[in-house]
Amino acid sequence: MSEATHITIRHQTGNYDLHVGASLLTELPKLLESIEASGPVGIITNNKVNALYGAILRAGLKAAGVVTRTILIPDGEEYKTLASAEQVISALIAQGMERSGTIITLGGGVTTDLGGFVASTLYRGVKLVHIPTTLLAMVDAAVGGKTGVNHPSGKNLIGSFYQPELVVIDVNTLASLDYRDRVSGYAEMLKMGAIRDHEYLDLLVAKMDELLNSSTGEVWIQAITRSCELKAEVVEADEKEADLRRILNFGHTLGHALETTLGYGEIRHGEAVILGMYGAGWLSNQIGSLSDIEWQEFAQILLRIPFSVALESIDPSVIEQVTRLDKKMANAQLNFVLLKKLGEAEIKANIPVVMIKLAVDVLKNVWKETQ
Ligand SMILES: NC(=O)c1ccc[n+]([C@@H]2O[C@H](COP(=O)([O-])OP(=O)(O)OC[C@H]3O[C@@H](n4cnc5c(N)ncnc54)[C@H](O)[C@@H]3O)[C@@H](O)[C@H]2O)c1
Repeated sequence: MSEATHITIRHQTGNYDLHVGASLLTELPKLLESIEASGPVGIITNNKVNALYGAILRAGLKAAGVVTRTILIPDGEEYKTLASAEQVISALIAQGMERSGTIITLGGGVTTDLGGFVASTLYRGVKLVHIPTTLLAMVDAAVGGKTGVNHPSGKNLIGSFYQPELVVIDVNTLASLDYRDRVSGYAEMLKMGAIRDHEYLDLLVAKMDELLNSSTGEVWIQAITRSCELKAEVVEADEKEADLRRILNFGHTLGHALETTLGYGEIRHGEAVILGMYGAGWLSNQIGSLSDIEWQEFAQILLRIPFSVALESIDPSVIEQVTRLDKKMANAQLNFVLLKKLGEAEIKANIPVVMIKLAVDVLKNVWKETQ
């Protein structure tokens, strides 16, 4: 039996606990006591996750005398919209949600983002509990207090900073996750190691096969807890993304550009982040401080992750355009998060666009050879 862990995450107005363990869905009633959740409880989830884990969650709560209402949202990024949020709010109000109530999100990052946004706006804020069920949501979307929905003009353009009261990560839910979604979450964990903790990066590399292929266990608890801890350290220091928090975008500038260019259906977010980290790592070596030895080490790690993506259609000039429009561009200069060394990031301004174009060329050539 694997031991559960928990960390306390501090923010501007308080703190909350994040628990990581096996079979924690059944422990929820006990964990809810710690946040004094006394009003109505609304569970926001989608059909797929509800079919997998909804019943077990509700059964435990019902046995503890907690009455719940479940609101289902359609599955998919295209439903992370203001219109969906309004539908969820209408359903919650119709079902008796009160100001004293609690919203539980059960699902991947789409659900935690949308549900978090609903919780932050309904009655100007009700209690929020995240139960992330994808690896990406566990280590990223559910930690840090960013909520949001998409707008036709771009992703996550509407949103709020809103901290949960509790985050419960049940690693047993990873057993049903697609391989590509595991890779996606693994990429975010690697990013945390690359920017904050070389030793953690080494652990992730040593356990790569186990983390990508086995279902659950001790290694998951250890790896997820450390990743959340590292993200929490950064967020605690810079809750509203003024400065330090920007290092969390390592690999994401190029990654977003690749996602947009290839189309969201073609490449998973984390796969794009792996490619983005390769490009940013190369730039770190060419124009930053990353040594040749560490760049080679990092490149080999990224190239070892088994996944395939067709990059032939990428035109570097398109990437250039998208990267220029990236919302992380400040004061008309292209800022890039680079690696100073493995385990430490730096933000560099004035990156010449021609270098980004070259990074994309390098990326295309290297990935062609590995396919
Ligand atoms: N708020 C933040 O800080 C933050 C950070 C990173 C990403 N995000 C957001 O997260 C979203 C991406 O998250 P995601 O990758 O989890 O996508 P997702 O929520 O769409 O989940 C991916 C798929 O996995 C399914 N799924 C969920 N849990 C499952 C399980 N245990 N077993 C089997 N299938 C399961 C979902 O139904 C979905 O089909 C994006 O909208 C992104 O903007 C937010």
